[in-house]
Amino acid sequence: MDVIEVIRAKRDGHRLTPEQIDWVIDAYTRGEVAEEQMSALAMAIFLRGMDRAEVSRWTEAMLASGERLDFTGLDRPTTDKHSTGGVGDKITLPLTPTVAACGGAVPQLSGRGLGHTGGTLDKLESIPGWRASLSTAEMRRVLEETGGVICAAGAGLAPADRKLYALRDVTGTVESIPLIAASIMSKKLAEGTGALVLDVKVGSGAFMKDVASARELARTMVDIGTDHGVRTVALLTDMSTPLGRRVGNALEVAEAVEVLSGAGPADVVGLTVALAREMLAAAGLTPGRGGVKDPAEALRDGSALAAWKDLVRAQGGDPEAPLPEAAERRVVLAPATGTLTRLDAYQVGLAAWRLGAGRARKEDAVSFGAGVTLHAKPGERVAAGEPLFTLHADEAARFDRAAQALEGSFDIGDDARHEPRPLVIDRIA
Ligand code: URA
Repeated sequence: MDVIEVIRAKRDGHRLTPEQIDWVIDAYTRGEVAEEQMSALAMAIFLRGMDRAEVSRWTEAMLASGERLDFTGLDRPTTDKHSTGGVGDKITLPLTPTVAACGGAVPQLSGRGLGHTGGTLDKLESIPGWRASLSTAEMRRVLEETGGVICAAGAGLAPADRKLYALRDVTGTVESIPLIAASIMSKKLAEGTGALVLDVKVGSGAFMKDVASARELARTMVDIGTDHGVRTVALLTDMSTPLGRRVGNALEVAEAVEVLSGAGPADVVGLTVALAREMLAAAGLTPGRGGVKDPAEALRDGSALAAWKDLVRAQGGDPEAPLPEAAERRVVLAPATGTLTRLDAYQVGLAAWRLGAGRARKEDAVSFGAGVTLHAKPGERVAAGEPLFTLHADEAARFDRAAQALEGSFDIGDDARHEPRPLVIDRIA
């Protein structure tokens, strides 16, 4: 096989053959295809696209580059969720124990945050003692004992994607729908779940800024899952404004615990319940039958909270220990009285990042206590001179740049001008 032929074929708009795809992914992973050649191919794919058969094969080849976990033989069906990432998106934290409490098994491999969106592992690592790195045997044990496990993906899972993602990051080829879909799905299929629910975010705080691109990404991922025998459903959900009232690692853990305790913000509760119901349905579990509980009930009756504590303890964490708090706080006051008609997710995410909640390079450490508390959400009344945001940081020097990120991030106006957006925009199966 000749790599230049493969690059030319895609450059000229032809479909890649299964043999070409298998060969190029394997040869690239082994270092036989050079970085500059793969970067030319990634750009050709970015510009020309791939059809369903090509994307499916590309995903299969990346999956085949590493190990595939196998959770068959558990006494309950496996079901997982993947979110394309957003601001204040702590849903995995209440969702995993909720689904576990309802009768599902959730093998969740998560990542760390990069840029303005947070990572689930960074959030959980703010819990004293909690460990993200587990061996495959430990993962299975935690899953068997608690019905859920949230941990870091080992280096053996889809190594081709690890290498290709790093290359795309520096060659302007991240924002390609087939490449994003194959990247996400190769990792999710490697994790060995039987059912998968995708939370595809749309809006300023998300990868996909408009509904049409989000729908295309969702469709592509659902097709890949289906082609690989995994029952896959996607919800398109709003990310024009942050989820919940807290953005930042330990701040979000505290909010997740509120939700698990039967309280918490309506949007976080609503999305947790909607995704949990989809995960149960995709796994063939029906609330009310065979001891399967409805997720809203599990949040109300304390069983989801009990599952959370088991899950945290099983990975070395202390669910009762106080969470880290930032050393410094600054309050930003509302400049006018009225209804908050807009609050921009991206700008709030950027502020939290500037406060130290996120990282600029993979090797940076995050500040667990840093972030933003929102005192009002769109649709709520605010009064001039009352707190609008509280900023949390370990160093007061970070406040000015974070406050700048929030300038122009919100509008205060008349009630009549505010049209609430639905949280779930569409469902793709
Ligand atoms: N997340 C991934 O895992 N891969 C992408 O390509 C984009 C987002």
